[in-house]
Amino acid sequence: MLKNKNKLIPLLIVLVAVFILSMTAAFVLPLLFETNIISESKVLSAYSYNEPYGKLVQNQSKKWVETGNPLQGAQYDGEIHNPTSFEITSWYIQFEVPERAYISDSWNGTYTRQGNIITVEPPKDYNRTILPGGNITYGFIMYAPKSFSSATVTLNYKQKMETSRTWYYYTLLILAIFSGSSIIICIPFMIKMQELEKNAERARVAIEQILKLFANTIEAKDRYTSGHSSRVSFYVRELAHRLGLSKQDQQKIYYMAIIHDVGKIGISDSILTKPDILEKGEMDIMKTHAAKGGEILADFTSLPGAAEVVRHHHERWDGTGYPDGLKGEEIPLFSRIISVADGYDAMTSDRCYRKKLPMSMVREELINNAGTQYDPKIVKCMLDIMESGFTSED
Ligand SMILES: [Fe+2]
Repeated sequence: MLKNKNKLIPLLIVLVAVFILSMTAAFVLPLLFETNIISESKVLSAYSYNEPYGKLVQNQSKKWVETGNPLQGAQYDGEIHNPTSFEITSWYIQFEVPERAYISDSWNGTYTRQGNIITVEPPKDYNRTILPGGNITYGFIMYAPKSFSSATVTLNYKQKMETSRTWYYYTLLILAIFSGSSIIICIPFMIKMQELEKNAERARVAIEQILKLFANTIEAKDRYTSGHSSRVSFYVRELAHRLGLSKQDQQKIYYMAIIHDVGKIGISDSILTKPDILEKGEMDIMKTHAAKGGEILADFTSLPGAAEVVRHHHERWDGTGYPDGLKGEEIPLFSRIISVADGYDAMTSDRCYRKKLPMSMVREELINNAGTQYDPKIVKCMLDIMESGFTSED
């Protein structure tokens, strides 16, 4: 549950980022760059009717020759067409004229000459915008050699970005709608997850407290075993972690370890608290706690597998344990882990019949019993834990 919530947070952050970026890109950026879009050139002879183009033609009925002037005067009529669905602005045209040519009069345009290139721009107070489907006209009187009748006209312009008509606008819009609606779905889902998570945490704490209460009730009979189950459960969780078990399994085995000696509830106090080594008959009774624990937990379905794990926590790797004499990997893994932690805690705690062993001896015992009593792989892990200085929280 916690894992799922954690996964949702980065997802939500990404969704919010995508939403903000796509909305910004779709609506804000085009405003910032509204007039700084395209600059293209078109020549009279090669224009396309799908794109803006400039036109300049000599008016055949308005030509004249003046006395003493070797140049021919003529009226030139120009047009700029915008057949697109976009506005164009900041336009100007350029064309090349013969060296001696000059313009004597003009309308709807201002003229500048640089070398043989004439640039025509709209007058300053003139509307420079040509609407979609629109056109403007301009004209001038030019004196030029008779041989000059046409020129290549280059039209330069800027096109206003019409975001609502571009493919990326729709892509960004879809992205914004998708991320926006995902956020709307995600937030209530996260709130619900948080509630469920809180409930699960409350349930987890309650389960743990009830299990510990149960274990403490049994351990209260013997002050020497007080805290044994808690300590074993900490060692077990660490072992499970180091053995690479999943978080879920680490939690499961932790719970199972708390109640691993639950069967002792059926053992008389005289045996449980006997200050001397148990006699054979007493030991046989003591040994029944493993099977009894399994029976008690048979209906405890909230912790699947607990009955089997508890039943086998005194089996031995070499098959000489109890109650069923399982051998090697026939013994459930969780039982083998609990067995090592149980043995370790028994050796490192005072008991009514002996004092706790020095750590060097505990280490030696674990090594000597690896492969006979204990799973060698788990003993190795326990030795590593000892080496690292890990202690139970008890
Ligand atoms: Fe036990």
